[in-house]
Amino acid sequence: MNKVVEVLPDKEALIARSLEVVLSKIQSAIQERGRCTIALAGGGTPKPLYEAIANQNLPWDKIHVFWGDERYVPANHPDSNEGMARSAWLNKVDIPATNIHPMPTTGESPSADAEKHEAELREFFGTSVGEFPALDIILLGIGDDAHTASLFPHTDALQVQDRLVTVGNKDGQPRITFTAPLINHAHCVIFLVAGASKRPALAQIFAPDADAQTYPSRLIQPQGELLWLLDDSAGLDLKH
Ligand code: 6PG
Repeated sequence: MNKVVEVLPDKEALIARSLEVVLSKIQSAIQERGRCTIALAGGGTPKPLYEAIANQNLPWDKIHVFWGDERYVPANHPDSNEGMARSAWLNKVDIPATNIHPMPTTGESPSADAEKHEAELREFFGTSVGEFPALDIILLGIGDDAHTASLFPHTDALQVQDRLVTVGNKDGQPRITFTAPLINHAHCVIFLVAGASKRPALAQIFAPDADAQTYPSRLIQPQGELLWLLDDSAGLDLKH
């Protein structure tokens, strides 16, 4: 794993740097593999990044968009990560509808939808059961409780080793989430973190020794690149 931590002066600089990195990763994925697969994060931090990507002139037909997690609500619900990314970015560009791969949230049950999405990923990537595809870019955020995607502290989703997608649990509410092993197979994982409220969580995530069940972002140890992009108020204690 190649891990890099960058602390940017403010949130604007964080977004500018993340745009630069994402554009360069999209370009190299297309050069090397003919397409780019990117999984998006929810939450407030990446929204301006999505708005900035929407202003770029990119080979949209070569870009496939996924989500690392989703709240169990329909896409038109204000809490939907898909809805947020569509309105900030995807609705504004000429990306083919078939390149957008949302997590299903209106099926029979969260576990049936998680299985359905896993089957969709397998079909898209041409992988068999037990094999993990490598997405080019996975964007993640962290919560004040050190969760990432919908891998919340002390929940069953943290134990899942043999699945690509599973059911997360936020205070009893189901969510759909990539599993830690799927995230860890990515070519590049980028965490975007802003705000002083994230500092206690970051201290535990970066500590030499802390419990990953309590601080689930510690489970993210990708085979490829790991990039932490932090604004100054989040990254104050991590500046060298
Ligand atoms: C979600 C996420 C989640 C998010 C963090 C950070 O759907 O909620 O994907 O893991 O990234 O909660 O959220 P903020 O960017 O709003 O701080």
